[in-house]
Parts: sequence; C-alpha cells; structure tokens
Amino acid sequence: MTENEAKPTLWDELTSPLNITLMVIILYLLYKIIKSHTEKDEPLPPPPPPMPKIKKDMTAAELKEYDGTNKEGRVLLALNGIIFDVTRGKRFYGPGGPYAAFAGKDATRGLATGQVAASDIEYDDVSDLSPDEVASAKEWEEQFREKYDIVGKLLKPGETPTKYDDDDGNENENENENKKEL
Ligand code: HEM
Repeated sequence: MTENEAKPTLWDELTSPLNITLMVIILYLLYKIIKSHTEKDEPLPPPPPPMPKIKKDMTAAELKEYDGTNKEGRVLLALNGIIFDVTRGKRFYGPGGPYAAFAGKDATRGLATGQVAASDIEYDDVSDLSPDEVASAKEWEEQFREKYDIVGKLLKPGETPTKYDDDDGNENENENENKKEL
C-alpha cells in the first residue's frame, strides 16, 4: 500500500458488499423468527367422534372382518379367548402398522412366542404352549385389560355366543357363566 492511498473508513467497511449481504441475511432470518412467533397455528381438525363400544362374541371368521381395513376402521384382536377392541392402538395394529398381523386375528400364539404372526388355522386351541409362553400371554392379557375394551369371547367351533344387552353391554341373566370367564 502506498502512502497516498486513503485508509478505508468504518463506513467503507460496513458498506462493503460482503457486510451488506450478511446484513440482509441476518435481517431476513430475524424476520422469519419474529413471523413464526406471531403467526397463529392452523386450527387442528376436530377429532373423530369416539366409536361406539360393541359387545359381541365372535368366531375366528367373524373376527377377521375387524382388521382395520373396513369402512368403520375398527380393529379387534383376540388374546386368551378374549376379544379386545384395539382401535385405540391403531398405530400398532392398523393397516401398515408393525403388528398389523394380529389385527382381526387370534394373537395368543404370536404374543406368547414372540412371533409377529397369527396362526392361519380356524381355531387355535394353543394347548401346546409351554408354561413360560402361557405366562407371557397372560402378561399381555393383563396389559390389554388395562388399556383396551373387551368386546366379548372368541368362540370355539360349535360354541354359542352370549346374548348381551344392546345398551349397557351386560349379558342377560342366563349367561352369567360366560361373564365370569371374561
Ligand atoms: C426388536 C424387537 C422389538 C422392539 C424394539 C419393539 C418395540 C416396541 C415399541 C417401541 C412399542 C410401542 C410401545 C408404546 O408406545 O406403548 C411396541 C409395542 C408393541 N409391541 Fe413391540 N417391539 C419388539 C418386538 C415385539 C415382539 C416380538 C412382539 C410380539 C410378538 C411385540 C409386540 C408388541 C405389541 C403387541 C405392541 C403394542 C402394545 C399395545 O397395544 O399397547 N413387539 N413395541
């Protein structure tokens, strides 16, 4: 640098192309931050109305209808002879979910043995399960009882369904034997 050349002033520094570009970026980011804080969130759509509870004993064939793919989207599964309404856990059991294989099926063997697969046989009596497997299925049942509504019993071939009252989900008085089992 020669002595004749003028030293850049502070103003020259501030108005250099690099500084102006940085300033514009900072102002833009500040604008975005302030805007995101002042904007109101889009109102969420109202949650769908809760599904009416159902109380019904079903055969394995009837249970198949409730794999979450029907119009209503209800998901049921059976465990230890009890049918649970697992619609609340649709993210697990609904179509595409990690445990969709259990939807509309008897999940006892799968949950007892740690296989995410339901047996294809029409009625699985699971009498061949080991004591550990039976205990594991029982643990799952306890969790399910806490979390999900009971729909009814999974009917063995030839077994007659319990008659439940429509309005309050109670069985009629002749069927108390079944009630005790659930
Ligand atoms: C690598 C192995 C596994 C991992 C990492 C895993 C992980 C998970 C996680 C994170 C959840 C969600 C828990 C919650 O949000 O409440 C879950 C739920 C569940 N898992 Fe697994 N899991 C595994 C294996 C299995 C196996 C082998 C089975 C049974 C055969 C199984 C059956 C289930 C069921 C039924 C649920 C849903 C329970 C409910 O309805 O609340 N999982 N699992």
